[in-house]
Amino acid sequence: MNISIIGSGYVGLVTGVCLAHIGHNVICVDIDEEKIKKLRKALVPIYEPGLGELIKKYIKKKTLSFTTSIKEATKKTDVIFIAVGTPSKKNGDADLTYVENVARQIAESMTSYKLIIEKSTVPADTGNKIRRTVELNVNKKHRKGTKSQIEFDVASNPEFLREGSAVDDFMNPDRVVIGVESKKAEKILREIYKPLKPKMVVTDINSAEIIKHASNSFLATKISFANALSQVCNHVGADILKVVEGMGYDKRIGKSFLNAGIGYGGSCFPKDVDAFIRLSEKNGYDFALLKSVRDINKEQKQSFIKLIEEKLWIVKNKTIGVLGLAFKPNTDDMRSAPSIDIIQQLQKEGAKIKAFDPKASTTAKEVFKKITYAKDVYGAVKDCDCLLLLTEWDEFKDIDFEKLRRLMNQPIIFDGRNLYHDKNLEKMGFEYYGIGRGKV
Ligand code: UGA
Repeated sequence: MNISIIGSGYVGLVTGVCLAHIGHNVICVDIDEEKIKKLRKALVPIYEPGLGELIKKYIKKKTLSFTTSIKEATKKTDVIFIAVGTPSKKNGDADLTYVENVARQIAESMTSYKLIIEKSTVPADTGNKIRRTVELNVNKKHRKGTKSQIEFDVASNPEFLREGSAVDDFMNPDRVVIGVESKKAEKILREIYKPLKPKMVVTDINSAEIIKHASNSFLATKISFANALSQVCNHVGADILKVVEGMGYDKRIGKSFLNAGIGYGGSCFPKDVDAFIRLSEKNGYDFALLKSVRDINKEQKQSFIKLIEEKLWIVKNKTIGVLGLAFKPNTDDMRSAPSIDIIQQLQKEGAKIKAFDPKASTTAKEVFKKITYAKDVYGAVKDCDCLLLLTEWDEFKDIDFEKLRRLMNQPIIFDGRNLYHDKNLEKMGFEYYGIGRGKV
């Protein structure tokens, strides 16, 4: 099938490349000329395991191409995914300016049937707005009367990819959700995903849009629940790791996304929780539960900072080593990373920061001023008064703790992800603080 993807950001690029991988001819579009030039040479703007190799392969096979022209993509394909950004406005609403703009440009270029699919995470009712925008702007030569004479369908097909394992998630989806309003649209979408033999959930467009927001909000709720529990564990002297293990074996609860830490970050959960709260508010429902989820997430970072302040006693002029800056492992993405609030607050109090992240140093340089970037773990901890573990990269698991202790000024470790919970660091002479381990 000939498919175009408008927006070659994280979601668009991964979706486009993976659709080529399952046998389709794909055109990826972006307004950023530099990005498109680089992509044509298979230079990938993000770090995502496996993506670069696939881009190279399908460019060579000529089933994947890149352009800046929506007009060209609309002309050459009948199926168009919209995967442009939907950033948060100040009030938490999703800003749909880019979605509207793209829908209008598709409409102006259309001369035959198109299936227009929203892939970006959008609030309910966006599908209806896209349909109206297309109807109002459809290529004037082809419009008769007030209604467009060119047939088109709008559909919703939310994505559930996780950064760091996006290619694998695409190839092995738990489910594919499609929100459609015609049999024709359903047939095309089923055909697109047929090679993956997925569990399909077919519904109306509004429900599909809600499924995406509800899924991310629910996962954020699980994380905040675990983080709230970690606070209780600290106070009563219980161990969060055992508590969630004991809960997680219950199939109705499940273990995943119950890891307490320094709060969720990234480009999705914080933005989507905000947008879902706003959507509910606008429709007359006060989603108080989600407001608490958001508050707990903020408080979790504050309580980590408070612990550091308390144990370091004086933060001013202390050198703090940081392992991990990205919002989670296997990505260089710094968007809403918990490391940002934590480091900036400690810098405000006069701490000097030395940090190491295996992939995110370049993206982090756009966020942090006055950080020393180390080349490896040991460079980051040398002469430090304490160490913060902020992202649980695999390569941080098995490090030489003897060497670490010798290099540090003061052997204090604040483990924001409970990565070292089983390392017996106290026995090795460290003062060790995890999250929710019953010791404040
Ligand atoms: C999330 C969802 O998991 C995807 O299904 C969804 O498609 C994506 O958002 C999106 O909407 O595009 P992602 O943001 O890549 O994916 O990352 P996650 O793996 O979900 O992690 C999000 C944050 O939660 C990270 O900061 C992570 O450290 C934190 N987290 C996760 C915890 O603190 N505890 C956990 O148990 C799990």
